[in-house]
Amino acid sequence: MNKHRVALTVNDKAVSMLVEPRQSLADALRGELGLMGTHLGCEHGVCGACTIVVDGDAVRGCLMLAVQAEGAEVTTVEGASPAVGLSEIQAALREFHGLQCGFCTPGMVMVLHHLFTENPSPSEDEIREALSGQLCRCTGYQGIMNAAKAVSARHGRLNDQPTQTPPDTTGI
Ligand code: FES
Ligand code: FES
Repeated sequence: MNKHRVALTVNDKAVSMLVEPRQSLADALRGELGLMGTHLGCEHGVCGACTIVVDGDAVRGCLMLAVQAEGAEVTTVEGASPAVGLSEIQAALREFHGLQCGFCTPGMVMVLHHLFTENPSPSEDEIREALSGQLCRCTGYQGIMNAAKAVSARHGRLNDQPTQTPPDTTGI
């Protein structure tokens, strides 16, 4: 099959890749650029594991063809993470047990990264709306919500603090 060269910016770096016409952007980011942080789950737009930011929008990387990304500005979870340590969102997900197997986590991080870029202190409803397209089979979502609410609260305006489980003092 004829391959096409696509030039784009990924995580602030100009790159080019040779892709098949049928290849998804998520697949090309992983396969051609070695950016394995973008996960592929359902590959048909349902789970959100492949979420990346393209030209300022959070998009499903599995539903966009790599050839459509010519000239685009793309941010993957690698670009939303510091070179060392964790981002504020990642640290909060760890702190509030917002992950277990971690498969959905890159998509969660990217959707929250996009949300907090647009709105540093979203309401609980806005957080729920942003996360409504992301599937997690492990956590039951409460830890993810608590993490996002904690980040929003730290940014200043959300007074509804996340629910913390009180320490078990029954045995004392
Ligand atoms: S892999 Fe893209 S939405 Fe599931
Ligand atoms: S942590 Fe396992 S799918 Fe979300």
